[in-house]
Amino acid sequence: MKHRMAIIGYGGMAGYHHENINKHFPDMEIAGVYDIREEAGQKAREKGLAVFKSPEEIYGNKDIELVLVATPNDFHKPYAIACLEAGKNVISEKPVTLNAAELEEIIAASKKAGKFFTVHQNRRWDRDFLILKKIFADGLLHDPYVIESRVQGSRRGLHGWRGWKQNGGGMVLDWGVHLIDQMLNFTAPKKCVAVSAVLHKVFAPEVDDNFTASFRFEDGLNYIVNVAMNSFIVQPRWHISAADGTCLIQNFECEGRIVKLADDKTLEWAEDIVYTAAGPTRSMAPRPRETTLELKLPDVTGSWQDYYRNIIEALEGKAQPIVKTAEALRVMKLIDLVFLSDEKKCGVECSI
Ligand SMILES: NC(=O)c1ccc[n+]([C@@H]2O[C@H](COP(=O)([O-])OP(=O)(O)OC[C@H]3O[C@@H](n4cnc5c(N)ncnc54)[C@H](O)[C@@H]3O)[C@@H](O)[C@H]2O)c1
Repeated sequence: MKHRMAIIGYGGMAGYHHENINKHFPDMEIAGVYDIREEAGQKAREKGLAVFKSPEEIYGNKDIELVLVATPNDFHKPYAIACLEAGKNVISEKPVTLNAAELEEIIAASKKAGKFFTVHQNRRWDRDFLILKKIFADGLLHDPYVIESRVQGSRRGLHGWRGWKQNGGGMVLDWGVHLIDQMLNFTAPKKCVAVSAVLHKVFAPEVDDNFTASFRFEDGLNYIVNVAMNSFIVQPRWHISAADGTCLIQNFECEGRIVKLADDKTLEWAEDIVYTAAGPTRSMAPRPRETTLELKLPDVTGSWQDYYRNIIEALEGKAQPIVKTAEALRVMKLIDLVFLSDEKKCGVECSI
C-alpha cells in the first residue's frame, strides 16, 4: 500500500519535493495540497494533484499519514502543531522555526501525539559536504582547527517573503540554518562553547542579507560560517586548515584539492631570506614543492534520496528519522545566539 502524504504550501520548494517523490518513490503518493493562493492550487491541479479547500480537510483525512509543511517560515510552527495534534507525522521545511522556543513547543506536541516530526535538512547530502566528511573519516587529513564554510552570490535582493522579518526572512534563517546544521553534523559530539556573529543589512530593509558567524568548539576548532548576497568575487565554498594539511573545495561542482605534508620530506630552513617588495620574511617564504603532496578530492556516494528512503522506513516503523529533533534544537539554539551576539555586538559563551 502506498504512503499518502499531503503538502501545505505549494510553492517552489514543494514543487521540488513533488517532482522528486514522483520520480523516485513509487511507494509514496501525494494525496493533495493546500495553499492560500488560488494560483498555487491551479498549478497543483495542472500537475494532476488534488487541492484541499482548507488545512482542516488534511487534518480530518484518515488516509494521510504524513504532511510536508513548505510555507514561508513563520507558518511552520502552527501547521506542524495542528498536524501532529491531528495524528499526522510531519516534515517541516527549514528553518524549522524562527527560534528554539518555538521548536520546543513542536517537540512537546510530537511527543504527546506519538508521531514523528522531522526537518528537511537536505544539504547534509550535498556532494561538497559529503566530500568534506569523507576526507576526515578516511584520514586524508586530521585535526581541523579552522573550517570556513561560505555560500556567496551577488543577487543582492531577497526574493519575496524572504525579505521580511515577520515571515522569518534573512540569510541566517535561510542559508545559515543549512550551514549550521552541516557544522553540527560534522563536529558531533563536540560542544560549541562560544558564538560571535556580525549581521549586515546591506540592501534588505528589515533582515540580514549578509552575515559571518564564528563558532568556537571545546577543542579549539574555529568554524566560520559566512553567507553573502553581495559578493562579486566569490570566495571558496570550503577552506579547511588541518594540522597536517589544507583542503580547498571551490564550489558546488566540487573543484578543489588537498595539499599536505609529504611524509618523508622535512623542511630545511634555508639561509637566504625571502624579500617581498617592502621587506624581508622567512616565515612566509613559499614551501619547497617537494615537501608537499597534492591529492585529489575523494569520490563520494550517497544522495539526497536517502532522505525520503529514511522517511518511508520511519513511516513503516523500521527506522527513526535521520534528522532528529534534538539536532534541530541545537541548530536553533545556536541561531538564537547568532542573533544575540549581533544585537549585543560581542561574542557570547555557551555550552551547546
Ligand atoms: N531545503 C531547501 O533546500 C529549501 C529550498 C528552498 C526553500 N526551502 C524552504 O521551503 C519553504 C517554502 O519556500 P519556497 O521557496 O517554496 O517559497 P514559495 O514562496 O515559493 O512558496 C511558499 C508557498 O506557501 C504558500 N503560503 C504562504 N502562506 C501560507 C499559509 N499560511 N498557508 C498555506 N500556504 C501558504 C504560498 O502561497 C506559496 O505558494 C520555506 O520554509 C523555505 O525556507 C527549503
